[in-house]
Amino acid sequence: MQIVILDTPQQVANYGADRFADQLKHKPDSVLGLATGSTPIALYSALTARVQRGELSFANARTFNLDEYLGLAGSHPQSYRYFMNEHLFQHLDIALANTAVPDGATDNPLAACDAYEAAIQVAGGIDLQLLGIGRNGHIGFNEPSSSLASRTRVKTLTPDTVKANQRFFADGEFQPHLSITMGIGTIMEARQILLLATGQSKSAAVRAMVEGPLAARCPASILQMHPKATLVLDRAAASQLEDVAFYQYIEQENQRLPGV
Ligand code: GLP
Repeated sequence: MQIVILDTPQQVANYGADRFADQLKHKPDSVLGLATGSTPIALYSALTARVQRGELSFANARTFNLDEYLGLAGSHPQSYRYFMNEHLFQHLDIALANTAVPDGATDNPLAACDAYEAAIQVAGGIDLQLLGIGRNGHIGFNEPSSSLASRTRVKTLTPDTVKANQRFFADGEFQPHLSITMGIGTIMEARQILLLATGQSKSAAVRAMVEGPLAARCPASILQMHPKATLVLDRAAASQLEDVAFYQYIEQENQRLPGV
């Protein structure tokens, strides 16, 4: 794992935008895996600004989102499809037909999960997958105890995740406890992974991911097995790591080595 520790959440977002820009310049028809949550919003703003300045184009890209609430149609303001349209897609030069989010309104979730897996394969697999991390170490909606080899499927959310995401729902509003999520095995097939984490509330999960054992208890710990995973953290998210000085030393050394 490459561990990059930056001072502020904005620097984390800018680093992420640079990685997406490099990917699209190198391969304009990249297949990008995208994520929702509060963390990527600043990254999406940075990407939007670059597209609107004419520095970057998504015109030939395809995207696949990690997950969606089961029971919410894409027109629902709390659905992840709606979130993506609002925060990213409608500001980019990408056709909505080239953006995929699992269908939360499907009446056949099992078939929808299989079709999602197949669509990723037909697109050629994911070149760069963006991830956030839940406070309990989840990636996508793969909660603790998820099989580390899992594929796209229906998952029950933990009470902690439901509570963490309650802030987006109005009092008394229906909040799904089920989701469709790419599996951990699906995520691990991405050629490169970029995980962003900011804020103190993520520091325990970040420590378990980086310095804990590989365990279904912390789904993000599977990234220890990925050959090209970059974790971009702000100081608060990195605050419980034991070996910060070593990670920073490695980064300094990497900058001196061309092509690393
Ligand atoms: C949700 C999403 C995850 C996301 C996580 C953290 O549960 N399913 O993909 O990484 O929340 O979100 P936030 O960035 O808001 O902390």
